[in-house]
Amino acid sequence: MLHIIFLFSLLFTASTNVLAQDFCVGDLKSSPYPSGYACKPETSVTAEDFAYSGLGVPGNTSNIIKAAVTPAFVAQFAGLNGLGLSSARLDMDVGGVIPLHTHPGADEILFVVSGRIKAGFVSSSNAVYIKVLKKGDLMVFPKGLLHFQLNVAKHSSVAIVTFNKPVPGLQILDFALFASSFPTALVEATTFLDEAQIKKLKGVLGGTG
Ligand SMILES: *[C@@H]1O[C@H](CO)[C@@H](O)[C@H](O)[C@H]1NC(C)=O
Repeated sequence: MLHIIFLFSLLFTASTNVLAQDFCVGDLKSSPYPSGYACKPETSVTAEDFAYSGLGVPGNTSNIIKAAVTPAFVAQFAGLNGLGLSSARLDMDVGGVIPLHTHPGADEILFVVSGRIKAGFVSSSNAVYIKVLKKGDLMVFPKGLLHFQLNVAKHSSVAIVTFNKPVPGLQILDFALFASSFPTALVEATTFLDEAQIKKLKGVLGGTG
């Protein structure tokens, strides 16, 4: 009997402690740890911390990919700190593309706000899944897998993506290979691409080595 009472009191204490920590709005002036930012004191938390207006504005698509990713990750949106969520806005001009990339830390779900987007991913067993998405469609991209989005509308397309991490991470394959200092001979040895093609892409994307 005593044991049971003890167990119940432990459970009660544990659950009240969990409830007491409703959120941990990030103190963005602190240095982030992999687990996030330090909590802002609750007395200085306001409704502003739980809202973010940065995705209302189109990103600048005057670039080589004719596309823009506007993040609403924890660094922009302090209320996400410690929660398993973040978001971003994709703007893609005619012919715009978010090149093959992965988010090492998060699954992604994409919602097409306007336009027409061809999107797909490659699985670990090299199966390829591609869909043309129209306004209102959703597509999911499992964590860590290489995927892309391509605007196939005759005008611009907009999508909202949501991740199940406050910092999803982003690694773009072409940028890792051709916008970095990865030595050309090693890119050649590790990808089987021709030296001329590697040098051409490094020239376009700004890589060195
Ligand atoms: C968009 O980016 C381009 C290239 O960096 C720049 O020249 C242009 O001024 C930017 N446009 C706006 C509206 O910020």
